[in-house]
Amino acid sequence: MKLIRGGTVVNANHTGRYEVLIVGEKIAALIDPHSEMLDSVESWDCEVINASGKYVIPGGVDSHVHLQLPMSDQATSSDTFESGTQAAAWGGTTTVIDFAGQIKGSAVPDAIESRLAEAEGQCAIDYSLHLSVGDVHTQSLIDIRNTVDSGITSFKLFMAYPDAWYSDDGQILKVMQLASETGAMIMMHAENGIAIDVLREQAAAQGKLGSVWHGRTRPPELEGEATHRAIQLAVVAGAPLYIVHLSSLNALKEVSRARDEGRNVFAETCPQYLYLTLEEHLDQPGIDGLRHICSPPLRPSAENHQDSLWMGLRTDDLSVVATDHCPFCDAEKLLGVEDFRDTPNGLGVIEHRMDLLYQGVLTGEITLQRWVELCSTTPARLFGLQGRKGIIAPGADADIVIFNPETEHVLGASTHHMSIDYSVWESIKVQGQSESVISRGSFVIRDRNLVGKPGHGEFLKRSLPEPLR
Ligand code: URP
Ligand code: ZN
Ligand code: ZN
Repeated sequence: MKLIRGGTVVNANHTGRYEVLIVGEKIAALIDPHSEMLDSVESWDCEVINASGKYVIPGGVDSHVHLQLPMSDQATSSDTFESGTQAAAWGGTTTVIDFAGQIKGSAVPDAIESRLAEAEGQCAIDYSLHLSVGDVHTQSLIDIRNTVDSGITSFKLFMAYPDAWYSDDGQILKVMQLASETGAMIMMHAENGIAIDVLREQAAAQGKLGSVWHGRTRPPELEGEATHRAIQLAVVAGAPLYIVHLSSLNALKEVSRARDEGRNVFAETCPQYLYLTLEEHLDQPGIDGLRHICSPPLRPSAENHQDSLWMGLRTDDLSVVATDHCPFCDAEKLLGVEDFRDTPNGLGVIEHRMDLLYQGVLTGEITLQRWVELCSTTPARLFGLQGRKGIIAPGADADIVIFNPETEHVLGASTHHMSIDYSVWESIKVQGQSESVISRGSFVIRDRNLVGKPGHGEFLKRSLPEPLR
C-alpha cells in the first residue's frame, strides 16, 4: 500500500485536498486529510509519500505517438519503445498510444502482430495501439472489423501522403461505415495530399527546395478543406471522427462548426502548433529548418493560428493535446538538405507535453483542471480507457504524477531523455515539473530519478470510446 499525503488532487472536474490511498495497482480511496481514519495511519502497513505543496494529478495519456516508426529505408524515428516510454514518464505521461501500420500490400493482422512484438517487454509505462490503415480493400475491411475485439478500437486514415498512406474518399467512406457499425473511432490526417503534391512538384521545379517550402506547399486552406471533407464523409457514414494534429485556424473553424451542429467530431492539437512557427523555426537555413519539418507544417505567426488554437482549447473545440512524437536525429533530417521532400517528417515532443501545456495554465490560457482534462482525462475517454486512466478515483489504475508547480527548468538536448541529438525546444524556460511518476502503483520516476524498468508497461486492450456507444 502507498499513501500520498498533503497534496492537492486535480481531476478534470474537481480540485481538492485529499490523501490518495493506493492498494496494489489501483487507487483504493481518496481520504479527507482531516478524517479520523488517518489517526491510525502509523499502524497501516503503508508507504507514505509526501506531496505537500504539490499537485497530485492523473498520469498523462498521450494518444498520438510514433516510436521506432520506419518512415523510409533510411529513416526510423529515433525513440524506441524503451527510450520513448521512459522519456514520456519523465514528463508525467503514463500511457501512450502508438500505431500498428498496415502499409500497402500488407495484411492488417500481420501489422498488428509485428508491432505488438516490437513493443513487448520494452515499455516503462502502459501502451496501446491504434491501427493506421494504408490499404483499404475487401479483406482489409474484414480484418479491420476484427481488430475491435482485440482492443484496437480506433483507425487512422490519411488524406495526405499519396505515395504511401493515402486513401481516396470512397475508401475512407467504407472504413467510416465500419466504424459507425462497430462504435470505433476514426482518426483523420486531414490534409489534401493530392493538391499538396502538385504544389510540391511546382516548387521543386522552380528550385524552391529549402525547408520553408515544406510549409508553403502545405497551406492551411488544404488542411481546412480536408477537414471539411472528412467531417462530411463522417456525417454520411454516421461515424465518430477525431482530427489528429490540427494545426490551423482553417481546420479549427470546420471542427467548431461541426461541434456546434452536435456532431461526434473531435480534434487534437500538439504543443508544436501552439508554440513554434513557420517564420521563426521552419524558415531557417540548413539543419535548423529541417529539424522543424512535420506535417501538417508549423504555421505562419501572422495568420493568428496559435491564438485560435489556444481559444479552441478553452472552448472545447479542441478536446485533446497529444504530441505526434516522431523524432529524427540530425543525420536523418539531413537527408533533405538538398530537397526538403527527402526529410523525414516529425518532431520530438513526448517528454515536454505536460510541462509545455502547464505554461498555458500559468499564463491564464487554460485552467488547471482543463490542463488535466486535455492531457489525460479526455484522451482516455475518447480512446476507450475511461475509468481506468486519466482520473484519480477509487477503482482507477494508480497512474499518478506528483507535480511540483514551482520548479523552474530549461528544456534542451543536454537534459532531455528523448533519443534525439538536438531539441526543437532548446533553451525554452518553463515552470512546473513532474517530480515523481507512478504507473499502476509502482514508481517509474521517483524524486527525478528513473526507477522504472522496461517491461513494466502493459498492452492496454481498449474499450469503445465514450460517450460514443
Ligand atoms: O510529421 C508528422 N506528423 N509525422 C508523423 C506522421 C503523421 O502523419 O502523423
Ligand atoms: Zn498524421
Ligand atoms: Zn502522427
